[in-house]
Amino acid sequence: MKRILRILWNRSPQEVFRKITRKFRYLFKGNGSIPDDYSLNVVLRDKKHMNKNVLIDRWERYWRVAHNIVKDDIRKNYSFKGKRVLELGCGPLYGWGPMALYLGAEEFYYLEPALIKETVYSEIIKERYFKPLFFELKAYYGGSITLEDYFDRIKSKCFSIDLEKNNLPIDMILSNSVLEHIPEKKLTVLMNKVFSMCSSGANFMHIVDFDTHGFLELDLSGLYSLDNKIIANSNKQLPINLLRKSNIEEILISSGFNLNHSIIYRNEDFKDANFDSSWEKYSDEDLKAKTVFFIGNK
Ligand SMILES: C[S@@+](CC[C@H](N)C(=O)[O-])C[C@H]1O[C@@H](n2cnc3c(N)ncnc32)[C@H](O)[C@@H]1O
Repeated sequence: MKRILRILWNRSPQEVFRKITRKFRYLFKGNGSIPDDYSLNVVLRDKKHMNKNVLIDRWERYWRVAHNIVKDDIRKNYSFKGKRVLELGCGPLYGWGPMALYLGAEEFYYLEPALIKETVYSEIIKERYFKPLFFELKAYYGGSITLEDYFDRIKSKCFSIDLEKNNLPIDMILSNSVLEHIPEKKLTVLMNKVFSMCSSGANFMHIVDFDTHGFLELDLSGLYSLDNKIIANSNKQLPINLLRKSNIEEILISSGFNLNHSIIYRNEDFKDANFDSSWEKYSDEDLKAKTVFFIGNK
């Protein structure tokens, strides 16, 4: 209770309203989900967004997990050097972009509807996020790039991608916890467009979180006890698109990509669950998969 009062006291009425609507978004009618709030004050207060270690640790951990499961050096295709990298839904501070540029990416493109440039290029974010991130990158990966050069790359080599106009060869496409938020039809169109913008051999890695994202406070077996057509057609703001692993695979493959690996990182372990028949079309593997890495190329 004290914590709630402190939060209410320290925030503007708009921020409080946004926080409440986000928490209970599934109760509000309308299509599509409420966009994330990446305004400066919100980002500054978010420990995850401001943590200089999160993206390096995530990148390294994912490759360790992938290697343990696949027993092959699939990471060799994911060096950033000389590449044009696109990250879908990179979050408020260019996601893996600064790291990619530090490690020699040619350019970084992003598709992030909620990103606010004033936030990214504010002095305080430079001091409190990009600068500590530089020293972390240097400690982790070494290299001779200077702080000024790194700032310059962030300023001059990060671009919002225009899917209608840009006709660049993109060499690497990344996303983390994004594809599950994009409605199926939109996702299919997006993947087709992205495919047409890629160089031949371009590599992708999409990490998809199939968990319920707090929908009706259910876990996965709770979600599967409901009729998925009724949920999808209920006109409520769903935090996720309800697609499962095999649906994402189909979308990637039908866009033209080669899907080389679907690596299941995390599973839900349920046994005697009472599933609604609308989920019967899915395999056990599909239903249990919680976090999956989709890895492949054009
Ligand atoms: C759960 S957040 C993940 C952010 C970041 N990738 C991370 O892992 O911290 C999902 C992100 O996807 C973005 N997003 C939502 N719809 C999108 C779309 N159609 N295209 C690209 N990004 C989208 C949201 O704005 C949000 O930043």
